[in-house]
Amino acid sequence: AFLPLLEKAATHVSGDALSADRAAILNIGSDCSSQALNLRGSGPSNSLLAYKMSKVAMLSMARTMAADLKVKNLPVLITTIHPGWVQTDMGGSNAEISVDESVTKIVAGIGRLEAAHNGGIFNRDLEAMPF
Ligand SMILES: NC(=O)c1ccc[n+]([C@@H]2O[C@H](COP(=O)([O-])OP(=O)(O)OC[C@H]3O[C@@H](n4cnc5c(N)ncnc54)[C@H](OP(=O)(O)O)[C@@H]3O)[C@@H](O)[C@H]2O)c1
Repeated sequence: AFLPLLEKAATHVSGDALSADRAAILNIGSDCSSQALNLRGSGPSNSLLAYKMSKVAMLSMARTMAADLKVKNLPVLITTIHPGWVQTDMGGSNAEISVDESVTKIVAGIGRLEAAHNGGIFNRDLEAMPF
């Protein structure tokens, strides 16, 4: 549904550089999508099973869309950020960092997004994470 709007935004800037200034989709993902890090099972009551599956699906969608957009020559950036273990309803009060700390870093990184981030997953400092 959003693709025509992203296409429109992408053509407002000349050249083919990817950036959030131009047109971008930023997914909030999770280290739970990583198969390389997937060694600790589904947690108490198997509660992480569906969650992990949903995060893998979202990352696959983003990577597939990034390839589709490249084939169509549409300079729309799509990337996924893992916010860290954050003190939210889901993360719980024992989580490592506050919402402010996580969000401040994510927002600060948006202006630095470029082609190297297209289709990948990164932590809140924009360091690449394993698939
Ligand atoms: N917290 C962490 O440690 C952590 C770690 C890795 C990744 N993440 C990712 O960060 C994102 C935010 O997580 P969070 O920790 O903020 O979770 P959260 O505290 O559980 O909050 C989830 C938010 O999503 C909304 N929501 C849930 N289902 C929805 C739906 N069907 N339609 C619209 N809104 C819906 C909820 O709205 P209501 O309040 O109205 O229900 C709530 O505002 C998620 O994508 C999560 O996977 C979080």
